[in-house]
Amino acid sequence: FYQCVFRPECLQTSSEIVRPVQQITTSTSMHIVRPGETLSSHGHESRVGGKGANQAVAIARAGGHSRFFGSIGRDGLWIKDRMEGYGIDISGLIVADEPTGRAIIQVDAKGENSISANFSKLHEERFKKQGEGWFPETTHLLLQNEIPLASTLYALHNVKDATVIMNPSPLPSPAQTRDFPWKKLDWLIVNESEAQELYQAAAGSGAKSTDSMTTKELLFRLSSESAFGDTNIVCTLGADGVLAFVPTFHRRQNAEAPSALYQPAAKLLHGVQDTTGAGDCFTGYFVAGLMEFGPHAKLGKDITEEDLAKVLKKCVVAAGMCVEKKGTIDSIPTRAEVEERMT
Ligand code: ADP
Ligand code: NA
Repeated sequence: FYQCVFRPECLQTSSEIVRPVQQITTSTSMHIVRPGETLSSHGHESRVGGKGANQAVAIARAGGHSRFFGSIGRDGLWIKDRMEGYGIDISGLIVADEPTGRAIIQVDAKGENSISANFSKLHEERFKKQGEGWFPETTHLLLQNEIPLASTLYALHNVKDATVIMNPSPLPSPAQTRDFPWKKLDWLIVNESEAQELYQAAAGSGAKSTDSMTTKELLFRLSSESAFGDTNIVCTLGADGVLAFVPTFHRRQNAEAPSALYQPAAKLLHGVQDTTGAGDCFTGYFVAGLMEFGPHAKLGKDITEEDLAKVLKKCVVAAGMCVEKKGTIDSIPTRAEVEERMT
């Protein structure tokens, strides 16, 4: 019981609320449907997806407890069962009157796709019903940017005593980026192009060209922007692995030269099959990795640089295994599979 009360838990307020249904139509045409055109498809499939759902599944497969807050419509009841089957705590999922949010994905014969997605109602409204400023208790909060920004801001301003991780994908607009409370994040997880865009938006007219910058320099500059202050940055580099820039470590060691932790990508046994969801798999494993140090583990004290390197290593192996298999949610490996690969 004791363990249960203090069990680290990650709360997701994310896209299951917004676009949990991924409707995929596959066409034999060599192009995506153009304005005014109708193409017939030869395949149609509905899956559970969205970054929030993918990342929640990754946390669960990695052995963490992830609780999902969201709303689905009556047309999306099957999602509830599917998510439960994935091992996610869906006690925060409610059935609302609006239809379930969805992404419509067209795939052409070359595998190229186009996505249009709708956003549903604001999530902060349901929290406010329990009192202004109310937010569920959790040890970790993981955010993406697939819900209305107001809901994300509500979560950031009202969550208490949690380690906050954000994978701001898709990126907020440059204007939203400048006003965003980045300092409330403990961890920012981005890919290289997101890091570049964030830096350009944050530095504004003073931004240097990122063209010939090394990723390390880019992260150093991004982290030097006052808006980011002490935020720790994990930048995934696709086939090149990951670079983590952790100011918390530098501060504690009074190090002058900022160092970065680098972890090369995992060697693939079966080649690249499908990179969709690799970033989400990485993020879920990363958060689950942090959760293993306990509810209020402090970086630099309870979590050392060596510990973090081990977490990143597991993340690249998990993400690499996800890339080796077709599919998104279904290609996220379990912890046992990852550990077996690592021995
Ligand atoms: P995103 O999909 O969010 O842009 P990345 O492309 O950076 O994210 O991929 C996330 C992680 O997935 C990488 O850090 C890496 O560990 C793994 N990964 C992605 N592509 C490959 C690849 N071709 N080979 C091995 N690992 C990969
Ligand atoms: Na995959």
